[in-house]
Amino acid sequence: MFGLGLRKRAARMLRGRTGQLVDAVREEGLTFLVEARFDVLRRCLAAADDRAVPGDVVEAGVAAGGSAIVLASLARPRRRFAGFDVFGMIPPPGELDSPDAHARHAIIRERRAEGIAGRPYYGYVDDLHGEVVAAFARHGIAVDGTDVKLVRGLFGETMPAELPERIAFAHLDCDWYDPVLTVLRAVAPRVPPGGSIVLDDYGDYGGCRRAVTDFLADAPGFTLIATTPTAVLRRR
Ligand SMILES: C[S@@+](CC[C@H](N)C(=O)[O-])C[C@H]1O[C@@H](n2cnc3c(N)ncnc32)[C@H](O)[C@@H]1O
Repeated sequence: MFGLGLRKRAARMLRGRTGQLVDAVREEGLTFLVEARFDVLRRCLAAADDRAVPGDVVEAGVAAGGSAIVLASLARPRRRFAGFDVFGMIPPPGELDSPDAHARHAIIRERRAEGIAGRPYYGYVDDLHGEVVAAFARHGIAVDGTDVKLVRGLFGETMPAELPERIAFAHLDCDWYDPVLTVLRAVAPRVPPGGSIVLDDYGDYGGCRRAVTDFLADAPGFTLIATTPTAVLRRR
């Protein structure tokens, strides 16, 4: 907050607690998400609350922690939050991903990727998990391993044991075909009617769109209810 102009501080006060938190994580360079995408997350969680959908909140793709901090703050105290990531370099795309995904991964691999707001790119940080835990603490959220947990490892290896039994809302922000489909198939059976899944990369990467199409081909209980600025799947 230090150094913020009076007008900016007043505008922030008017935007409510979540708006202030979104501003803060964006200013700290902890997220790639723009405000409109945060608004989708906020509305999906509010819809789950309005319909009394039981279950916890999950994020696949935490990176530097920005969207996870906002989701954990929106979830608690009614729901628990679980974030999943390798907390290191993002695994490579595969043959079902589009050329732009491979080009992006080459930039990351060659250590040419840039971080946000002057920070180093999150994949180059030595102890990313420790940094994310510290960022949660700065925003008043303790990563206690129960109400809030950050699970390190490949989704396919960690999710079977660590996903909550019921998931009212899931945010998938993991870029490529394979992780998106893996997570959709792990998460979807745990989502009760009225719950939803947001796919951050649907408009950005062809591999994510393809994974959603392949998932929907044998998931008749889900409907794609929005595609911009991010995609939303809702369980009927
Ligand atoms: C775009 S970043 C997430 C951005 C973050 N939600 C934000 O607020 O900016 C994607 C993340 O997904 C993670 N990821 C991708 N594939 C994965 C996999 N198979 N297992 C675990 N983590 C994976 C990467 O390590 C990376 O941290």
